[in-house]
Amino acid sequence: MARAPHRAACGYGRKMEVKGQAVGGVRLRRWTDADLPILEGSNTAEMTRFLGGPESEPQLRHRHEVYLRGWDAGTSRMFAIVGARGEPLGGIGVWGSGLPNGPDAWETGWSVLPHAQRKGVAKAALALLVDDLKGRIARGDAAQQPLAAFPSVANTASNALCRGAGFAWTGTLVEEFRGVHLTLNVWVLDLS
Ligand SMILES: CC(C)(COP(=O)(O)OP(=O)(O)OC[C@H]1O[C@@H](n2cnc3c(N)ncnc32)[C@H](O)[C@@H]1OP(=O)(O)O)[C@@H](O)C(=O)NCCC(=O)NCCS
Repeated sequence: MARAPHRAACGYGRKMEVKGQAVGGVRLRRWTDADLPILEGSNTAEMTRFLGGPESEPQLRHRHEVYLRGWDAGTSRMFAIVGARGEPLGGIGVWGSGLPNGPDAWETGWSVLPHAQRKGVAKAALALLVDDLKGRIARGDAAQQPLAAFPSVANTASNALCRGAGFAWTGTLVEEFRGVHLTLNVWVLDLS
């Protein structure tokens, strides 16, 4: 299974852009150099509980660089999730990946900063991301393939998010992530 190296929490475009309509005041915009604090605020023990634990400062900076470069390299589209006044709420992205049984897929991952959780931010952000991806597929700018997400089986919030967004549960897989073996649910959203 070919998959991007920066799975979960997250990992294509040109100029700074705001994607789609705001959903409940929530918008997505291209990740910028000013967004490192979003990663830092998401790097706590609690926030990374289902992701193998916090990253070191160099690992976090590397992730930030991958998010920045992914747009021009065409390997990933990472967005900052922002509120009505542009305040940072978290991050969400999409990158090329694959399903356990072989077919290519898009993969998505997300995080919402602690102070903004349980208010529907991730739900709104995922709806915007799916709309954007569907639009790009319709215009021929992105491959027609499903969207997958691989949250830990223990990650209640992310699994509820997938279920609520209409993803179908297709099984589990065990994968090493940040040196830890995680059992992941395989959620797939048909975009055709
Ligand atoms: C997962 C995460 C992004 C959810 O963000 P959020 O903005 O709080 O989520 P929402 O408010 O949009 O809620 C989405 C669903 O999750 C449920 N949910 C949210 N937080 C929850 C929690 N702590 N426990 C149980 N369910 C929760 C909501 O009830 C909702 O489900 P519903 O539609 O069935 O009611 C956030 O908890 C987070 O950043 N976690 C740490 C990072 C992480 O795990 N990333 C995912 C890697 S795959």
